[in-house]
Amino acid sequence: MSFEISKQAAARAAVDLVEDGMIVGLGTGSTSLIMVGLLAERGLKIQAVATSEAMAAEARRQGIALVDEYPNFQRVDLTLDGADEADGEGRLIKGGGGALLREKLVAIASTRLIIMIDESKRVSKLGENWPVPVEVVPFGWARLHKRIEELGAEVKLRERGGKPFRTDQGNYIFDCRFGPMEQPEKIHAALIQLTGVVETGLFLGLTNTLVTGTESGEAHMQHFYPTPPDYLR
Ligand code: A5P
Repeated sequence: MSFEISKQAAARAAVDLVEDGMIVGLGTGSTSLIMVGLLAERGLKIQAVATSEAMAAEARRQGIALVDEYPNFQRVDLTLDGADEADGEGRLIKGGGGALLREKLVAIASTRLIIMIDESKRVSKLGENWPVPVEVVPFGWARLHKRIEELGAEVKLRERGGKPFRTDQGNYIFDCRFGPMEQPEKIHAALIQLTGVVETGLFLGLTNTLVTGTESGEAHMQHFYPTPPDYLR
């Protein structure tokens, strides 16, 4: 199932939150792609920060201006992004599209983070369906692979076309299957302290609003008052 109607519904509701004059963070993925098209249709006077080269190209194509200093930026008013999984507290797994590092950099610079999902992404515990993507430097990756396995995950180097997948930063991604996680914060903390790990796809304490689209074309919003962990500055 492609959840096209759900994605459209979530994207439409999210785009309605954008106002003239805002600096808007553009997520990455199929839902974000729909969102960018709908945002362009609104014809607002906004400036955007893109979370991937692909989305920057799409924004330009759709006539959405990127901030003057892009790819550098200071702050973002509102970011609209997708997710691979979301739990009842708005905690997320992201990075299925490989853009997790830029997505996290933009999310932590944002006053509000709006996450657009379809119902299939809702889980009671993160890790039920998706592995945690972990971006790592390519140098010495085999040793790091082993260290992460020792944390209890089944670890796979992400590939594309028979070669290691490269992020926009030229890094590798390990897809790390931990299974349903009781305490994703502890898993993030254990991963991020390993030398060579650049960032994890666990987005914890960041979501302000979770917009869930349904196949009947409705969108439900759930609001959170997140407390970003101290290390996210
Ligand atoms: C990109 O790296 C991801 O974090 C995406 O936001 C996530 O995979 C959701 O993508 P879809 O909107 O395609 O489901």
